[in-house]
Amino acid sequence: MRQAGRSMQEYRSLREKYTLLEICKKTELACEVTLQPVRKLGVDAAILFADILLPAAPLGISFDFSQGEGPVIRNPIREAGDVERLRSFDPREDLSFVLSTIRLVRKELSSSIALIGFAGAPFTLASYLIEGGRSDYYLRTKSMMHQRPDLWEKLMDKITTATFDYLSAQAEAGAQAVQLFDSWAGALSPEDYQKFVLPYSQKILERLAQAGIPTIHFSTGTGGFLDLLRKAGGDALSVDWRISLKEAWKKIGYDKGIQGNLDPASLLSPPEILKSLTQNILHQAEGRPGHIFNLGHGVLPQTPEDHLKIVVETVKEWKNASSS
Ligand code: CP3
Repeated sequence: MRQAGRSMQEYRSLREKYTLLEICKKTELACEVTLQPVRKLGVDAAILFADILLPAAPLGISFDFSQGEGPVIRNPIREAGDVERLRSFDPREDLSFVLSTIRLVRKELSSSIALIGFAGAPFTLASYLIEGGRSDYYLRTKSMMHQRPDLWEKLMDKITTATFDYLSAQAEAGAQAVQLFDSWAGALSPEDYQKFVLPYSQKILERLAQAGIPTIHFSTGTGGFLDLLRKAGGDALSVDWRISLKEAWKKIGYDKGIQGNLDPASLLSPPEILKSLTQNILHQAEGRPGHIFNLGHGVLPQTPEDHLKIVVETVKEWKNASSS
């Protein structure tokens, strides 16, 4: 989860010379940044360096990243014509740089370490395209859902098709699993999620499962409707710290993997406290297979790099102790 971004010194030095988009587009740089946390922190999997906004460009939406603000869209989707104008595209051509990065990472990375590809889920991507950037209340997005359900359906259908194609191209290029990021799904009521979002994420996750591609379904703030997220699909579901891991797993079902759920703020605590907060999560997982230890959301920019290492080492110590 943006593990390389912001907190790691090597990444920040690179960002003094290149923009985020330049790094994504230069295969060697994107490969290097993907590998940095694996080398430095010793994590078990690498997450592709890219961004959920990349498919917006071939869809016909122009955007940029502004310092600290995240994505800024120049021509947001506001009316029927904007949805009509969205182009269908072939990720193998229009996002070939992402696929080249995957191929290069796969060549450089030990075969024992998985590479995770990713894309934004239709709701989260649509929210950026409609709002024009980050949002507190998602008013325009929710207005479209409720007042123009016909437009919403058309938009979501287009994004759904593009996202499935993009993720299957990533798997074909060598990603061993893909993660669907519905980062802002927690802004919705369970009813809205069920009616306006679930069918689209479900379609992507079902088709990926049919193709034999392992999936992680990520969201935050969705503790109140984890049953619906389970229904939408994913081999593993990611939860944040607003629900205990124990309760989340019980709600989701033990036949699914679970990812999470350390509060990123914990990483600002002194080492001893951080260690105990980390162990608390491991304790709740009870050594059950299918636990992917992770933060509940992205690494905060203020995070000291050696604290990331403490978390990784604490998880590894626990694992070694419980397997011996
Ligand atoms: O771990 C990694 O570094 C992998 C690469 C990665 C990035 N974005 C690069 C990036 C991943 C996995 C993402 C996913 C992403 N992007 C999500 C879903 C996951 C989540 O965290 O919820 C979302 C919602 C986005 C959209 C986005 N991109 C936002 C909101 C921001 C601003 C974040 C901030 O507070 O600065 C970005 C910018 C971005 N994408 C950075 C990185 C490393 C930030 C640092 C930079 O500008 O270099």
